[in-house]
Amino acid sequence: MFGFLAPGSGTSVLHSRRAAASRCGRRRLVARANVDVTKFPSEGSKDAVDVNKQPQEYVQLKEMLKGVSIFMIGMMGSGKSAVGKVLAQQIGYAYIDTDEVIQESMKMPITDIFEEHGEAGFRQVESVVIQQVSPYVRTVVSAGGGAVLNQENWGHMQNGLVVWLDPSVETIYERVKGDASRPLLKVDDPKAMIESILRERESLYEQADVKIGIEPEEGIEVVAFNTARGLTRFIEANPPKSAAHRPVGL
Ligand code: S3P
Repeated sequence: MFGFLAPGSGTSVLHSRRAAASRCGRRRLVARANVDVTKFPSEGSKDAVDVNKQPQEYVQLKEMLKGVSIFMIGMMGSGKSAVGKVLAQQIGYAYIDTDEVIQESMKMPITDIFEEHGEAGFRQVESVVIQQVSPYVRTVVSAGGGAVLNQENWGHMQNGLVVWLDPSVETIYERVKGDASRPLLKVDDPKAMIESILRERESLYEQADVKIGIEPEEGIEVVAFNTARGLTRFIEANPPKSAAHRPVGL
């Protein structure tokens, strides 16, 4: 809605055939995945936040968002889920973690999905989940770190505002080391891998509407607060185009 325009893509016959074949494979995998995102949206407001103690920034952000959803992107270990949950709770939004939806629907952990279907299989299901959640309003969606690799995902995320959480490689490494749940980091030198993945994806993450730098000592609450402020500033600088201001007939 407020987002940037995704770069256009030319379509050749070859590309169309490949796309058709991959759509076919995707249908099979997705049928198996039995994706049902409707099980996931939970009312962010349920864990009642005391509105009298609630920082004004969240109240203001909620008003300004007018129900528009938020997509959290960034590297593994950047805090998307933890920060997304706090943000959702503070502004009374539902919260969805695409990795959780994928694992639940495939009935297996992400490492097993990578082993059985490869990264490509995982990405197909991930795209379907993002497509399915993208029409939701009043929802914070935490997307897997690699969701930015697929251009279609960007198209879907433009239904909302996109936030990039950007801690340093060192911080990411400290958070994910010893965690066996990320197949891409099951390598001899996970830190070098983090560096390499970040280098590859940085220009994609940069496409976010809002970038939140994270200092190593900053906790979840601080980052969530900074995210709310970043979003408010972004909306102030990019007010949504109201239908009332559009020329008649468009
Ligand atoms: C991935 C990130 C993971 C998960 C999968 C692949 C990535 O999610 O989707 O292991 O490619 O960066 P988190 O970013 O939530 O860890």
